[in-house]
Amino acid sequence: MDIRKVGVIGAGQMGNGIAHVCALAGYDVLLHDVTRERIEAGLATINGNMTRQVASGRITEAQRDAALDRIGAAVNLDAFEATDLVIESASENEAIKRKIFADLCPHLRADALIATNTSSISITRLAASTDRPEKFIGVHFMNPVPVMELVELVRGIATDDDTFDSVRIMAKSLGKKVANAEDFPAFIVNRILLPMINEAVYVLYEGVGSVESIDKAMRLGANHPMGPLQLADFIGLDTCLSIMQVLHDGLSDSKYRPCPLLVKYVEAGWLGRKTQRGFYDYRGEKPVPTR
Ligand code: CAA
Repeated sequence: MDIRKVGVIGAGQMGNGIAHVCALAGYDVLLHDVTRERIEAGLATINGNMTRQVASGRITEAQRDAALDRIGAAVNLDAFEATDLVIESASENEAIKRKIFADLCPHLRADALIATNTSSISITRLAASTDRPEKFIGVHFMNPVPVMELVELVRGIATDDDTFDSVRIMAKSLGKKVANAEDFPAFIVNRILLPMINEAVYVLYEGVGSVESIDKAMRLGANHPMGPLQLADFIGLDTCLSIMQVLHDGLSDSKYRPCPLLVKYVEAGWLGRKTQRGFYDYRGEKPVPTR
């Protein structure tokens, strides 16, 4: 499959990043979300992030303008009939993803490929909810997408070799390095990263350290670019909780139980940076720990 036109479903932090890197690499992109406002907000974020790349000399103004011209807003899924590959990047919620695939499939050409950017859910199970499990694959980008080098590629049980090869070549054309992962809960990165973040929340919950001391300890003691609680806010606490639930349900091991304090933050709607409050409060000039 020669991929030229890419549809992206979900204009949030991952979806707009995926649209961003695809457009910069020369693909025509259609960006879809549930409302025009959300698509516009995604496009504004892409514009801001590309402008940041122009300012630091990573791309030229001409490259930014050409890339922005390659991204179209698709308010309805009808427009996706022209796409060669659709990358689903909606919320980390299986019911939402299944509904999207049910709505999407009737609009696609028979040979079009579908990828999901799920960070934890079974590729095989999601593939089975489409009309083309052999043309379905997991392509897991890292946040922030324009900066992070890795893409995890995950085959479902039915994914065929053409789909795998086409998407691997495409991911490399975005300047990404590919790591192959088998289809088990949360794949490689999140199987390792999320239990660490969950453990950091337990360390906070049990009073072993404050938000500041936990983050400082891991930044300076393990050379992580962000502390685990800062990173949790960056990923989104709802996404962190969903991934822990997938690990806990899928592997039936109590070591993956989500920390009750993480559950409490999500119940409060304190989801991290995207709601301006999580383990830090982002409403002022500087982030302030909330505990
Ligand atoms: N778009 C474009 N460029 C961006 C950007 C974005 N969204 N965010 C940051 N950048 C650029 C900045 O412009 C800057 O570029 P230059 O070097 O050219 O000046 C560069 O990235 C570094 O940014 P900053 O100077 O602002 O800040 P920093 O040095 O603290 O780096 C960071 C920011 C790259 C996010 C760094 O803190 C980091 O690597 N954090 C860890 C991120 C991480 O672990 N991500 C994985 C999360 S897990 C995941 O994504 C999987 C999942 O499913 C949950």
